[in-house]
Amino acid sequence: MKGKHIVLGITGGIAAYKSVMLLRLLIKSGAEVQVVMTPSAKEFVSPVTFASLSSKPVVSEFFTANSGEWHSHVDLGLWADLMVVAPATASTIGKMANGIADNMLVTTYLSAKEDVMVAPAMDLDMWNHPGTQRNIATLEKDGVIIVQPGSGELASGLEGKGRMAEPQEILEEIKKYFNKRKDLSGLKAMVTAGPTYENIDPVRFIGNYSSGKMGYEVARELDERGAEVTLISGPVNLPVPSDSIKKIEVVSAQEMYTEAKKIFDENQIAVFAAAVADYAPVEVAENKIKRENQEEMTITLKRNPDIAASLGALKKGQTTVGFALETQNELENAKRKLHDKNFDIIVLNSMQHPQAGFMKDTNKVTIINQNGEIEDFDVKSKRAVAKDIVDAIKKWREND
Ligand code: CTP
Repeated sequence: MKGKHIVLGITGGIAAYKSVMLLRLLIKSGAEVQVVMTPSAKEFVSPVTFASLSSKPVVSEFFTANSGEWHSHVDLGLWADLMVVAPATASTIGKMANGIADNMLVTTYLSAKEDVMVAPAMDLDMWNHPGTQRNIATLEKDGVIIVQPGSGELASGLEGKGRMAEPQEILEEIKKYFNKRKDLSGLKAMVTAGPTYENIDPVRFIGNYSSGKMGYEVARELDERGAEVTLISGPVNLPVPSDSIKKIEVVSAQEMYTEAKKIFDENQIAVFAAAVADYAPVEVAENKIKRENQEEMTITLKRNPDIAASLGALKKGQTTVGFALETQNELENAKRKLHDKNFDIIVLNSMQHPQAGFMKDTNKVTIINQNGEIEDFDVKSKRAVAKDIVDAIKKWREND
């Protein structure tokens, strides 16, 4: 659960007090939780309790009344690895099933790119009502995971089905959900990420704006799904997403190539997400180059090894994935790179889209495979894009 992003939606029911425990369990298991409350949920438990336990202000309104600060349900939907609505009242279930977006919680649900889990809580008659059952069936059809309510004493004094599952049970369901995705166990994967720096002298280099985020998210996703991951990273300012990922730090393209070549044979999956500098200075000055009085200066560059293409030529059954960042003739260039570098899959980053590319947290990609299949994706967080890429790898390996 470490590092998992969970949006915990709380609606107005007595069972909201149990969500305090659920939040505590989630935090203790290493998850990062953002609580979203409906206005009526705040009548049951104070947002202060949830804010202190999650170390994040609770989101409830579309904007903060005094400052006008806008809370983006779209950003929250992108951020989440899973949204859990617990307790979910009959009213919220009805709104979710019918897309009635009149509060922050339902708008977040409608914007969620990842899966959603719902733990209903209500009186037995409400639970048994055909309206509720119809809405539950709709949610199930929409792919929502329902944590069935338990039977027992209800807040109304009646006995029957309708009480929210216990926090520990909900936590188990959440863990089970994430564990089910360990579909790459037993496989080894390598990922190149970040920029490379090509030294000019001891204090200067040629580099690029790559933040490394996309590669790091792919490494995280592969790791979470059970693969044994080695991340070969150029200079970036990012923490390694998990203790179980082995990181090899490099600076130049030549170093990245040397390290990648050493381990390529032992991996079944190789993802080339690094923005490798194509050229490096022929000579690296031993001392800092002085300005002197030159109006112009020339640095002669030599070609760097093409890591992906060289290793692609040595392939023995590995699934290789490359990236293409194009500004023109996007699809055509991506297809050419897929072929030239012997990739099985290429991920085309759209430079045309304002929410895609270097330094951003979001990306808009098209995934193309050797069979000529092309899939276009919406703008998503880089984490969600990583999931789509790993899904594509999985599918390719199954059909190959
Ligand atoms: N790549 C690599 N080694 C290089 C250059 C690129 O491994 N020396 C990999 C990148 O990691 C990426 C893919 O090749 O997965 C395409 O990178 P890109 O820079 O778009 O391709 P280039 O071949 O350098 O083409 P150009 O810069 O001319 O568009």
